[in-house]
Amino acid sequence: MSKKITFPRGTSDILPQEALLWQKLEQESRTLLGLYGYKEIRTPFFEETDLFARSIGQTSDIVQKQILNLASQRLDDKGNIKLSGLSLRPEGTASVVRSYIQNGFDRQENLSKLFYIGPMFRGERPQKGRLRQFHQIGVEAIGPGAGSPYLDAEVIALSVNLLNSFGLNGFRLKINTLGSNEDKKNFSKYLREQLNPLINDLCGDCQSRFERNVFRILDCKSKECKTIVSKIDLTTGAYLSSESQEYFVKVKAALDDLGVDYIEDPKLVRGLDYYTHTVFEISDASLGSQDALGAGGRYNNLVTQLGGPKVDAVGFALGVERIMLAMPEIQQEEHPTIDVYLIAGDEKFLPRTFKILNTLRENKFSSSMGYKFASIKNQMKVANKIGARFVMILGEKEYNNKTASLKNMSTGEQREISENEYIKVMKEL
Ligand code: HAM
Repeated sequence: MSKKITFPRGTSDILPQEALLWQKLEQESRTLLGLYGYKEIRTPFFEETDLFARSIGQTSDIVQKQILNLASQRLDDKGNIKLSGLSLRPEGTASVVRSYIQNGFDRQENLSKLFYIGPMFRGERPQKGRLRQFHQIGVEAIGPGAGSPYLDAEVIALSVNLLNSFGLNGFRLKINTLGSNEDKKNFSKYLREQLNPLINDLCGDCQSRFERNVFRILDCKSKECKTIVSKIDLTTGAYLSSESQEYFVKVKAALDDLGVDYIEDPKLVRGLDYYTHTVFEISDASLGSQDALGAGGRYNNLVTQLGGPKVDAVGFALGVERIMLAMPEIQQEEHPTIDVYLIAGDEKFLPRTFKILNTLRENKFSSSMGYKFASIKNQMKVANKIGARFVMILGEKEYNNKTASLKNMSTGEQREISENEYIKVMKEL
Protein backbone atom coordinates (compact mmCIF):
# COMPACT_ATOMS: atom_id res chain seq x y z
CA MET A 1 0.00 0.00 0.00
CA SER A 2 1.37 3.44 -0.85
CA LYS A 3 2.24 5.85 1.96
CA LYS A 4 -0.50 8.28 2.95
CA ILE A 5 0.31 11.95 2.46
CA THR A 6 -0.57 14.25 5.36
CA PHE A 7 -0.46 18.05 5.61
CA PRO A 8 2.99 19.61 6.16
CA ARG A 9 4.09 20.10 9.78
CA GLY A 10 2.90 23.39 11.21
CA THR A 11 -0.12 23.66 8.91
CA SER A 12 -3.66 22.34 9.24
CA ASP A 13 -6.88 21.77 7.34
CA ILE A 14 -9.86 23.91 8.17
CA LEU A 15 -12.62 21.34 7.80
CA PRO A 16 -16.17 22.30 6.73
CA GLN A 17 -17.48 22.25 10.32
CA GLU A 18 -14.68 24.57 11.52
CA ALA A 19 -14.95 26.77 8.43
CA LEU A 20 -18.30 28.01 9.72
CA LEU A 21 -16.64 29.50 12.80
CA TRP A 22 -13.93 31.04 10.59
CA GLN A 23 -16.61 32.62 8.42
CA LYS A 24 -18.38 33.99 11.50
CA LEU A 25 -15.16 35.48 12.84
CA GLU A 26 -14.33 37.01 9.48
CA GLN A 27 -17.83 38.40 9.13
CA GLU A 28 -17.74 39.99 12.58
CA SER A 29 -14.32 41.47 11.78
CA ARG A 30 -15.48 42.90 8.47
CA THR A 31 -18.49 44.53 10.13
CA LEU A 32 -16.43 46.17 12.89
CA LEU A 33 -13.58 47.15 10.54
CA GLY A 34 -16.13 48.77 8.23
CA LEU A 35 -17.52 50.70 11.19
CA TYR A 36 -14.04 52.15 11.78
CA GLY A 37 -13.65 53.03 8.10
CA TYR A 38 -11.16 50.33 7.05
CA LYS A 39 -11.25 48.93 3.50
CA GLU A 40 -9.99 45.52 2.47
CA ILE A 41 -6.71 45.07 0.60
CA ARG A 42 -5.46 41.72 -0.77
CA THR A 43 -1.77 41.46 -1.55
CA PRO A 44 0.14 38.45 -2.97
CA PHE A 45 1.08 35.57 -0.68
CA PHE A 46 4.70 35.94 -1.83
CA GLU A 47 6.88 38.97 -2.46
CA GLU A 48 10.48 39.88 -3.24
CA THR A 49 12.53 38.64 -0.26
CA ASP A 50 14.21 42.05 -0.12
CA LEU A 51 10.92 43.66 0.90
CA PHE A 52 10.94 41.72 4.16
CA ALA A 53 14.66 42.18 4.81
CA ARG A 54 14.34 45.94 4.33
CA SER A 55 11.26 46.34 6.54
CA ILE A 56 11.09 43.70 9.27
CA GLY A 57 14.88 44.00 9.58
CA GLN A 58 17.93 42.06 8.49
CA THR A 59 18.76 41.20 12.12
CA SER A 60 15.24 40.23 13.25
CA ASP A 61 14.47 36.61 14.14
CA ILE A 62 11.86 36.50 11.36
CA VAL A 63 14.33 37.41 8.60
CA GLN A 64 17.26 35.53 10.13
CA LYS A 65 15.46 32.25 10.78
CA GLN A 66 11.87 32.14 9.61
CA ILE A 67 11.59 33.39 6.04
CA LEU A 68 10.30 30.65 3.76
CA ASN A 69 12.05 31.24 0.48
CA LEU A 70 10.68 29.86 -2.77
CA ALA A 71 13.35 27.70 -4.32
CA SER A 72 13.28 27.64 -8.11
CA GLN A 73 13.57 24.44 -10.11
CA ARG A 74 16.88 25.49 -11.58
CA LEU A 75 20.11 24.19 -10.13
CA ASP A 76 23.29 26.24 -10.04
CA ASP A 77 26.66 25.01 -11.42
CA LYS A 78 27.30 23.02 -8.24
CA GLY A 79 23.92 21.32 -8.39
CA ASN A 80 22.39 23.38 -5.54
CA ILE A 81 18.78 24.54 -5.86
CA LYS A 82 18.76 28.22 -6.77
CA LEU A 83 16.88 30.56 -4.45
CA SER A 84 14.37 32.55 -6.41
CA GLY A 85 14.53 35.89 -4.60
CA LEU A 86 10.88 35.40 -3.67
CA SER A 87 9.56 34.49 -0.23
CA LEU A 88 6.22 33.65 1.34
CA ARG A 89 4.99 36.63 3.36
CA PRO A 90 5.70 36.25 7.10
CA GLU A 91 3.37 39.17 7.94
CA GLY A 92 1.18 41.74 6.20
CA THR A 93 2.59 45.18 7.02
CA ALA A 94 5.50 45.13 4.56
CA SER A 95 3.24 44.05 1.68
CA VAL A 96 0.61 46.69 2.46
CA VAL A 97 3.26 49.41 2.55
CA ARG A 98 4.74 48.12 -0.71
CA SER A 99 1.31 48.31 -2.30
CA TYR A 100 0.61 51.75 -0.79
CA ILE A 101 3.76 53.10 -2.46
CA GLN A 102 3.35 51.19 -5.73
CA ASN A 103 -0.24 52.38 -6.20
CA GLY A 104 0.43 55.98 -5.19
CA PHE A 105 -2.17 55.96 -2.41
CA ASP A 106 -0.60 59.07 -0.92
CA ARG A 107 -1.64 61.04 -4.01
CA GLN A 108 -5.23 59.88 -3.62
CA GLU A 109 -6.04 60.19 0.06
CA ASN A 110 -4.86 61.86 3.23
CA LEU A 111 -5.25 58.72 5.30
CA SER A 112 -5.53 55.19 3.90
CA LYS A 113 -7.21 52.79 6.31
CA LEU A 114 -6.61 49.26 5.07
CA PHE A 115 -7.33 45.81 6.47
CA TYR A 116 -6.44 42.26 5.46
CA ILE A 117 -7.46 38.77 6.52
CA GLY A 118 -5.30 35.94 5.29
CA PRO A 119 -2.52 33.40 5.72
CA MET A 120 1.06 34.24 6.74
CA PHE A 121 4.03 31.87 6.67
CA ARG A 122 6.97 31.49 9.04
CA GLY A 123 9.46 28.64 9.24
CA GLU A 124 9.14 28.24 13.00
CA ARG A 125 9.36 25.15 15.18
CA PRO A 126 5.68 24.20 15.47
CA GLN A 127 4.02 23.92 18.86
CA LYS A 128 0.64 24.78 20.38
CA GLY A 129 -0.33 28.21 19.00
CA ARG A 130 2.78 28.40 16.80
CA LEU A 131 2.29 27.37 13.20
CA ARG A 132 4.14 27.64 9.91
CA GLN A 133 0.99 28.74 8.15
CA PHE A 134 -1.26 30.86 10.35
CA HIS A 135 -3.81 33.59 9.70
CA GLN A 136 -3.90 37.22 10.66
CA ILE A 137 -6.58 39.88 10.80
CA GLY A 138 -4.58 43.06 10.38
CA VAL A 139 -5.08 46.78 9.88
CA GLU A 140 -2.72 49.48 8.65
CA ALA A 141 -3.53 53.22 8.75
CA ILE A 142 -1.04 55.02 6.50
CA GLY A 143 -0.80 58.58 5.19
CA PRO A 144 0.08 62.17 5.90
CA GLY A 145 -2.89 62.26 8.28
CA ALA A 146 -1.72 59.23 10.30
CA GLY A 147 0.56 61.07 12.72
CA SER A 148 -1.93 61.58 15.52
CA PRO A 149 -2.06 60.04 19.02
CA TYR A 150 -5.81 59.65 18.51
CA LEU A 151 -5.09 57.18 15.74
CA ASP A 152 -2.74 55.16 18.00
CA ALA A 153 -5.53 55.05 20.56
CA GLU A 154 -8.16 54.19 17.95
CA VAL A 155 -6.08 51.36 16.50
CA ILE A 156 -5.40 49.91 19.97
CA ALA A 157 -9.07 50.21 20.93
CA LEU A 158 -10.09 48.56 17.67
CA SER A 159 -7.89 45.53 18.37
CA VAL A 160 -9.46 45.21 21.82
CA ASN A 161 -12.98 45.66 20.42
CA LEU A 162 -12.37 42.99 17.80
CA LEU A 163 -11.31 40.51 20.48
CA ASN A 164 -14.35 41.47 22.58
CA SER A 165 -16.61 40.92 19.58
CA PHE A 166 -15.28 37.32 19.39
CA GLY A 167 -16.33 36.82 23.02
CA LEU A 168 -12.82 37.23 24.49
CA ASN A 169 -12.14 39.38 27.53
CA GLY A 170 -9.59 37.66 29.76
CA PHE A 171 -6.61 39.21 27.97
CA ARG A 172 -4.03 41.84 28.94
CA LEU A 173 -2.99 44.83 26.87
CA LYS A 174 0.57 46.05 27.32
CA ILE A 175 1.81 49.30 25.79
CA ASN A 176 5.14 51.09 25.53
CA THR A 177 6.89 53.71 23.45
CA LEU A 178 10.19 53.33 21.65
CA GLY A 179 10.28 56.98 20.61
CA SER A 180 11.59 58.33 17.33
CA ASN A 181 14.46 56.81 15.37
CA GLU A 182 16.83 59.15 17.21
CA ASP A 183 15.36 58.04 20.56
CA LYS A 184 15.75 54.39 19.53
CA LYS A 185 19.44 54.99 18.87
CA ASN A 186 19.83 56.59 22.31
CA PHE A 187 17.88 53.70 23.84
CA SER A 188 20.13 51.05 22.27
CA LYS A 189 23.21 53.01 23.35
CA TYR A 190 21.82 53.19 26.90
CA LEU A 191 21.05 49.46 26.91
CA ARG A 192 24.53 48.56 25.63
CA GLU A 193 26.12 50.71 28.34
CA GLN A 194 24.03 49.00 31.01
CA LEU A 195 24.57 45.50 29.68
CA ASN A 196 28.22 45.74 28.69
CA PRO A 197 29.65 44.81 32.12
CA LEU A 198 27.30 41.79 32.27
CA ILE A 199 27.65 40.56 28.71
CA ASN A 200 29.24 37.24 29.72
CA ASP A 201 26.31 36.45 32.01
CA LEU A 202 23.76 36.74 29.19
CA CYS A 203 22.46 33.63 27.43
CA GLY A 204 24.16 32.64 24.18
CA ASP A 205 21.39 34.10 22.01
CA CYS A 206 21.50 37.42 23.83
CA GLN A 207 25.27 37.64 23.55
CA SER A 208 24.82 37.73 19.79
CA ARG A 209 21.78 40.03 20.14
CA PHE A 210 23.95 42.54 22.03
CA GLU A 211 25.45 43.78 18.76
CA ARG A 212 22.79 42.96 16.21
CA ASN A 213 19.52 43.67 18.06
CA VAL A 214 20.03 44.75 21.65
CA PHE A 215 16.30 45.50 22.23
CA ARG A 216 15.47 41.82 21.99
CA ILE A 217 17.44 41.12 25.16
CA LEU A 218 14.62 42.86 27.05
CA ASP A 219 12.08 40.19 26.19
CA CYS A 220 14.38 37.16 26.38
CA LYS A 221 12.65 34.31 28.21
CA SER A 222 15.82 32.85 29.84
CA LYS A 223 16.08 33.17 33.63
CA GLU A 224 19.59 34.65 33.69
CA CYS A 225 18.69 37.38 31.17
CA LYS A 226 15.43 38.18 32.97
CA THR A 227 17.38 38.76 36.21
CA ILE A 228 19.90 41.03 34.49
CA VAL A 229 17.16 42.98 32.66
CA SER A 230 15.16 43.47 35.88
CA LYS A 231 18.07 45.48 37.29
CA ILE A 232 18.18 47.98 34.42
CA ASP A 233 16.29 51.17 35.12
CA LEU A 234 13.86 51.47 32.22
CA THR A 235 11.20 53.57 33.82
CA THR A 236 12.88 56.94 33.52
CA GLY A 237 12.58 57.00 29.73
CA ALA A 238 15.72 59.16 29.77
CA TYR A 239 16.42 58.21 26.17
CA LEU A 240 13.11 59.74 25.02
CA SER A 241 12.91 63.28 23.68
CA SER A 242 10.35 65.54 25.32
CA GLU A 243 8.24 65.44 22.10
CA SER A 244 8.15 61.64 22.19
CA GLN A 245 7.22 61.66 25.88
CA GLU A 246 4.44 64.16 25.24
CA TYR A 247 3.16 62.12 22.33
CA PHE A 248 2.92 59.02 24.49
CA VAL A 249 1.14 60.94 27.26
CA LYS A 250 -1.49 61.94 24.67
CA VAL A 251 -1.90 58.33 23.47
CA LYS A 252 -2.48 57.18 27.04
CA ALA A 253 -4.92 60.02 27.76
CA ALA A 254 -6.93 59.10 24.65
CA LEU A 255 -6.96 55.43 25.74
CA ASP A 256 -8.15 56.50 29.21
CA ASP A 257 -10.94 58.53 27.61
CA LEU A 258 -12.00 55.47 25.65
CA GLY A 259 -11.97 53.37 28.84
CA VAL A 260 -9.35 50.94 27.48
CA ASP A 261 -7.43 49.10 30.24
CA TYR A 262 -3.70 48.82 29.69
CA ILE A 263 -0.46 48.11 31.50
CA GLU A 264 2.62 50.17 30.70
CA ASP A 265 5.57 47.83 30.16
CA PRO A 266 8.93 49.49 29.47
CA LYS A 267 10.32 46.07 28.48
CA LEU A 268 7.94 45.72 25.53
CA VAL A 269 10.06 46.20 22.40
CA ARG A 270 8.63 43.88 19.67
CA GLY A 271 10.63 41.74 17.29
CA LEU A 272 10.19 43.75 14.10
CA ASP A 273 12.59 46.61 13.39
CA TYR A 274 10.16 49.03 11.79
CA TYR A 275 8.45 50.27 14.96
CA THR A 276 8.80 53.81 16.31
CA HIS A 277 6.87 55.40 19.18
CA THR A 278 3.84 53.39 20.39
CA VAL A 279 4.06 49.59 20.50
CA PHE A 280 1.52 47.23 22.04
CA GLU A 281 0.81 43.57 22.57
CA ILE A 282 -2.27 41.70 23.74
CA SER A 283 -1.70 38.43 25.55
CA ASP A 284 -3.83 35.74 27.12
CA ALA A 285 -2.25 33.72 29.93
CA SER A 286 -4.50 30.72 29.19
CA LEU A 287 -2.55 30.13 25.97
CA GLY A 288 0.71 29.08 27.65
CA SER A 289 4.04 30.07 26.13
CA GLN A 290 2.63 31.37 22.82
CA ASP A 291 0.35 33.81 24.55
CA ALA A 292 0.25 36.80 22.17
CA LEU A 293 -3.20 37.16 20.61
CA GLY A 294 -2.07 40.16 18.64
CA ALA A 295 0.33 43.04 18.48
CA GLY A 296 1.14 46.22 16.65
CA GLY A 297 2.39 49.74 16.81
CA ARG A 298 3.49 52.82 14.96
CA TYR A 299 6.02 52.71 12.11
CA ASN A 300 6.63 56.28 10.95
CA ASN A 301 9.77 55.59 8.91
CA LEU A 302 8.85 52.45 7.02
CA VAL A 303 7.17 54.05 4.01
CA THR A 304 10.21 56.27 3.31
CA GLN A 305 12.56 53.37 4.04
CA LEU A 306 10.85 51.41 1.25
CA GLY A 307 11.18 54.29 -1.20
CA GLY A 308 7.83 56.00 -0.59
CA PRO A 309 6.78 59.47 0.55
CA LYS A 310 7.33 60.80 4.08
CA VAL A 311 4.11 59.64 5.73
CA ASP A 312 3.28 58.19 9.14
CA ALA A 313 1.61 54.85 9.86
CA VAL A 314 0.22 52.64 12.60
CA GLY A 315 -1.36 49.19 12.65
CA PHE A 316 -1.71 45.78 14.26
CA ALA A 317 -2.38 42.12 13.50
CA LEU A 318 -4.32 39.51 15.46
CA GLY A 319 -3.57 35.78 15.16
CA VAL A 320 -6.75 33.91 14.21
CA GLU A 321 -5.63 30.44 15.38
CA ARG A 322 -4.68 31.83 18.79
CA ILE A 323 -8.03 33.63 19.04
CA MET A 324 -9.74 30.28 18.41
CA LEU A 325 -7.61 28.60 21.10
CA ALA A 326 -8.57 31.32 23.59
CA MET A 327 -12.29 31.20 22.85
CA PRO A 328 -14.15 29.95 25.94
CA GLU A 329 -16.08 27.14 24.35
CA ILE A 330 -16.18 26.75 20.64
CA GLN A 331 -19.85 26.58 19.87
CA GLN A 332 -20.25 24.11 17.04
CA GLU A 333 -21.83 26.03 14.24
CA GLU A 334 -24.42 24.14 12.22
CA HIS A 335 -24.33 24.14 8.44
CA PRO A 336 -27.63 25.39 7.04
CA THR A 337 -29.88 22.50 6.07
CA ILE A 338 -31.05 22.15 2.48
CA ASP A 339 -34.61 22.77 1.31
CA VAL A 340 -35.11 19.74 -0.93
CA TYR A 341 -33.48 16.38 -1.46
CA LEU A 342 -34.55 14.62 -4.66
CA ILE A 343 -34.85 10.89 -5.02
CA ALA A 344 -35.16 9.01 -8.31
CA GLY A 345 -36.99 5.71 -7.86
CA ASP A 346 -35.23 4.16 -10.85
CA GLU A 347 -32.05 4.60 -12.88
CA LYS A 348 -34.08 5.81 -15.86
CA PHE A 349 -35.72 8.62 -13.84
CA LEU A 350 -32.34 10.22 -13.10
CA PRO A 351 -32.31 12.62 -16.12
CA ARG A 352 -35.70 14.11 -15.20
CA THR A 353 -34.77 14.32 -11.51
CA PHE A 354 -31.54 16.10 -12.45
CA LYS A 355 -33.53 18.62 -14.48
CA ILE A 356 -35.92 19.34 -11.58
CA LEU A 357 -32.90 19.76 -9.30
CA ASN A 358 -31.53 22.52 -11.48
CA THR A 359 -34.91 24.26 -11.82
CA LEU A 360 -35.18 24.30 -8.02
CA ARG A 361 -31.79 26.00 -7.78
CA GLU A 362 -32.70 28.52 -10.46
CA ASN A 363 -35.59 29.40 -8.14
CA LYS A 364 -33.20 29.75 -5.16
CA PHE A 365 -34.16 26.56 -3.35
CA SER A 366 -31.07 24.85 -1.92
CA SER A 367 -31.24 21.29 -3.15
CA SER A 368 -29.35 18.10 -3.77
CA MET A 369 -30.08 14.56 -4.98
CA GLY A 370 -28.80 11.02 -4.98
CA TYR A 371 -26.71 11.24 -8.14
CA LYS A 372 -26.13 7.49 -8.21
CA PHE A 373 -29.17 5.30 -8.18
CA ALA A 374 -29.92 3.59 -4.84
CA SER A 375 -33.07 2.24 -3.20
CA ILE A 376 -35.64 4.82 -2.04
CA LYS A 377 -35.19 3.56 1.54
CA ASN A 378 -31.45 4.20 1.46
CA GLN A 379 -31.88 7.60 -0.09
CA MET A 380 -34.44 8.59 2.56
CA LYS A 381 -31.76 7.82 5.16
CA VAL A 382 -29.38 10.20 3.37
CA ALA A 383 -32.07 12.91 3.23
CA ASN A 384 -32.61 12.50 6.98
CA LYS A 385 -28.92 12.67 7.71
CA ILE A 386 -28.36 15.89 5.84
CA GLY A 387 -31.49 17.38 7.42
CA ALA A 388 -33.42 18.14 4.23
CA ARG A 389 -36.68 19.99 4.94
CA PHE A 390 -38.47 18.28 2.03
CA VAL A 391 -37.92 15.22 -0.07
CA MET A 392 -39.14 15.04 -3.65
CA ILE A 393 -39.60 11.52 -4.96
CA LEU A 394 -39.88 10.51 -8.60
CA GLY A 395 -41.16 6.93 -8.59
CA GLU A 396 -42.82 4.89 -11.37
CA LYS A 397 -46.25 6.41 -10.76
CA GLU A 398 -44.96 9.99 -10.55
CA TYR A 399 -42.85 9.46 -13.65
CA ASN A 400 -45.82 8.29 -15.66
CA ASN A 401 -48.13 11.02 -14.28
CA LYS A 402 -45.51 13.72 -14.83
CA THR A 403 -45.68 14.53 -11.12
CA ALA A 404 -43.46 14.28 -8.08
CA SER A 405 -44.28 13.35 -4.48
CA LEU A 406 -43.29 16.03 -2.01
CA LYS A 407 -42.75 14.90 1.56
CA ASN A 408 -42.47 17.31 4.47
CA MET A 409 -39.76 15.71 6.61
CA SER A 410 -40.86 17.25 9.89
CA THR A 411 -44.60 16.46 9.65
CA GLY A 412 -44.34 13.35 7.46
CA GLU A 413 -47.12 14.78 5.25
CA GLN A 414 -46.81 13.74 1.60
CA ARG A 415 -48.60 15.02 -1.51
CA GLU A 416 -48.34 14.53 -5.24
CA ILE A 417 -47.77 17.68 -7.25
CA SER A 418 -47.68 18.16 -10.97
CA GLU A 419 -44.38 18.90 -12.64
CA ASN A 420 -45.36 22.36 -13.78
CA GLU A 421 -46.64 23.28 -10.35
CA TYR A 422 -43.91 22.30 -7.92
CA ILE A 423 -42.05 25.64 -7.93
CA LYS A 424 -45.31 27.46 -7.18
CA VAL A 425 -46.14 24.97 -4.40
CA MET A 426 -42.65 25.20 -2.91
CA LYS A 427 -42.83 28.99 -2.86
CA GLU A 428 -46.02 28.81 -0.84
CA LEU A 429 -44.56 26.48 1.77
P1 HAM B 1 3.58 39.80 15.02
O1 HAM B 1 3.68 40.08 16.50
O2 HAM B 1 4.73 39.15 14.40
O3 HAM B 1 3.26 41.19 14.35
O4 HAM B 1 2.29 38.92 14.75
C1 HAM B 1 1.00 39.33 15.16
C2 HAM B 1 0.22 38.14 15.71
O5 HAM B 1 0.20 37.07 14.75
C3 HAM B 1 0.82 37.50 16.95
O6 HAM B 1 0.49 38.22 18.11
C4 HAM B 1 0.18 36.12 16.93
O7 HAM B 1 -1.13 36.17 17.43
C5 HAM B 1 0.13 35.82 15.43
N1 HAM B 1 1.27 34.96 15.06
C6 HAM B 1 2.53 35.34 14.76
N2 HAM B 1 3.30 34.28 14.47
C7 HAM B 1 2.51 33.18 14.58
C8 HAM B 1 2.72 31.77 14.40
N3 HAM B 1 3.89 31.28 14.01
N4 HAM B 1 1.67 30.93 14.61
C9 HAM B 1 0.46 31.42 14.99
N5 HAM B 1 0.21 32.73 15.16
C10 HAM B 1 1.21 33.61 14.97
C11 HAM B 1 3.10 41.36 13.00
O8 HAM B 1 2.97 40.45 12.22
C12 HAM B 1 2.98 42.81 12.59
N6 HAM B 1 2.88 42.85 11.12
C13 HAM B 1 1.79 43.48 13.25
C14 HAM B 1 1.59 44.89 12.80
C15 HAM B 1 0.74 45.33 11.86
N7 HAM B 1 2.27 45.93 13.25
C16 HAM B 1 1.87 47.00 12.60
N8 HAM B 1 0.95 46.64 11.76
